[in-house]
Amino acid sequence: MKVSGAELVVEMRGITKKFGSFVANDNISLNVHKGEVHALLGENGAGKTTLMNQLYGLYQPTSGEIYLNGKKVNITDPNVAIAEGIGMVHQHFMLIQPFTVAENIILGNEITNKMGVLDYKKAVNQVKELSKKYGLDVDPDAIISDISVGMQQRVEILKVLYRGAEILIFDEPTAVLTPQEIEEFIEIIKKFTQDGKTVIIITHKLKEILKMADTCTIIRRGVKIGVVDVSKTTEAELAEMMVGRSVTFSVEKEDKVPGKSVLDVKDLCVKDSRNVQIINKLSLNVRKGEILGIAGVDGNGQNELVETILGLRKVESGSICINERNITNKKNWEILQSGIGSIPADRQKHGIVPNFSIPDNLILERYNVGPFSRHGILNRKAIKDNAAVLIDRFDIRASSPEAKVNTLSGGNQQKVIIGREISNNPDLLIASQPTRGLDVGAIEFIHKAIVEQRNNNKAVLLISFELDEILDLSDRIAVMYEGRIVKILNSKETDEKEIGLLMAGGQSK
Ligand SMILES: Nc1ncnc2c1ncn2[C@@H]1O[C@H](COP(=O)(O)OP(=O)(O)O)[C@@H](O)[C@H]1O
Ligand SMILES: [Mg+2]
Repeated sequence: MKVSGAELVVEMRGITKKFGSFVANDNISLNVHKGEVHALLGENGAGKTTLMNQLYGLYQPTSGEIYLNGKKVNITDPNVAIAEGIGMVHQHFMLIQPFTVAENIILGNEITNKMGVLDYKKAVNQVKELSKKYGLDVDPDAIISDISVGMQQRVEILKVLYRGAEILIFDEPTAVLTPQEIEEFIEIIKKFTQDGKTVIIITHKLKEILKMADTCTIIRRGVKIGVVDVSKTTEAELAEMMVGRSVTFSVEKEDKVPGKSVLDVKDLCVKDSRNVQIINKLSLNVRKGEILGIAGVDGNGQNELVETILGLRKVESGSICINERNITNKKNWEILQSGIGSIPADRQKHGIVPNFSIPDNLILERYNVGPFSRHGILNRKAIKDNAAVLIDRFDIRASSPEAKVNTLSGGNQQKVIIGREISNNPDLLIASQPTRGLDVGAIEFIHKAIVEQRNNNKAVLLISFELDEILDLSDRIAVMYEGRIVKILNSKETDEKEIGLLMAGGQSK
């Protein structure tokens, strides 16, 4: 490992954390050396955040001990952690929206002058120095609600540095970043370790571990599986340790000549509620037997495009056709019956009814048609039989086949949605962020299901912020920027760099 021989700065010994009778961390040990980037890898729910919350003093271990620089410590709350030089950037930022960048950074740690009055100028200067030193470009006077998520993360990092952190913990830091911001983040991390700081990163993204970490501890279902030297491992090995079985990354995609156009969007213009042109003269088509991926940074009109196709937004001008039938400004229910299936970006809000059972969620759009109801009376047996088939086919894992959907993990909730939408046999499947927040096992399954649609000669419109996903699945890639399609590329003839550039409003070769 890069820093073999370096001193142990963090030592967690035999940490067990129980929530009631549930064991979230089961006798986990973690050794982190000075100056290294240590990744904590595990599927959703493996217990990563719980382990780090104990290092940061948010939770107390049920049993086990923590040593910092060889000294046993009792981290009773985050103030103790901060005093010990530990800082944590949480998955969900904790900034005060109407305050400025500088105010957020110094909040709770104000520099006062001799009179006990806040010395704002001095504080701002310190913030500027820190941001210069580590390449954390921010405008100290900007208001938080006006800056991008990537910028907000920098504010969180500066806040931690401002408090003198030597050990920095990041919980899923790249989940919210664009590809360019991820590259910049990796550079910033390098500066920290060059400066002798120690970094712990929670993640389930294997590629990023290979790019930035020295060491990786893998946790599965609350148990530590192992520690690996990142320079001597592979994506496949990490995935297998994380999931407990081997995982295939690239989906088999047979060569296919696309058929007739299923979705045709022409010169589409849409305004949002503030009368801002959110979609601007957008044209695209998706053909039978192809996946068209839409790449773009969040907020460039992708959601609005999907909502417009689904009849949830008004078309100002232009047209939308499905199978040559004009559906422009038709009602949502009418459009859904014209052969569209949709995996919504916000699965909790739009994809499921959380307190309904799995069988009921699997027929949400068809509860009033045969075989699920007759003369207004639900046919419980048909609903149950349908569920049994789909639970098996889509590998939906639940405590019982009748379980409520809100008791399932995110990955299994998503399988319920996909199972329902695909079993409707749509000509066009719209998949928005189909694997957001899911772990590799579930991602693998969902990717296969999407490609199978294409192989069965259906059209798929895929919208994703994950460039890897777009590149792996799509036949053609449309890059969306500020409400327009800036370019449509053949996925075999492009790469992450070119797409990343177009996504940021740049020009490709
Ligand atoms: N405060 C809590 N109360 C009860 N259960 C919890 C609490 N925090 C986490 N858990 C459970 O512990 C497990 C591990 O959670 P977490 O550490 O957040 O996982 P990860 O960060 O690896 O995704 C999950 O099953 C989660 O539901
Ligand atoms: Mg977590």
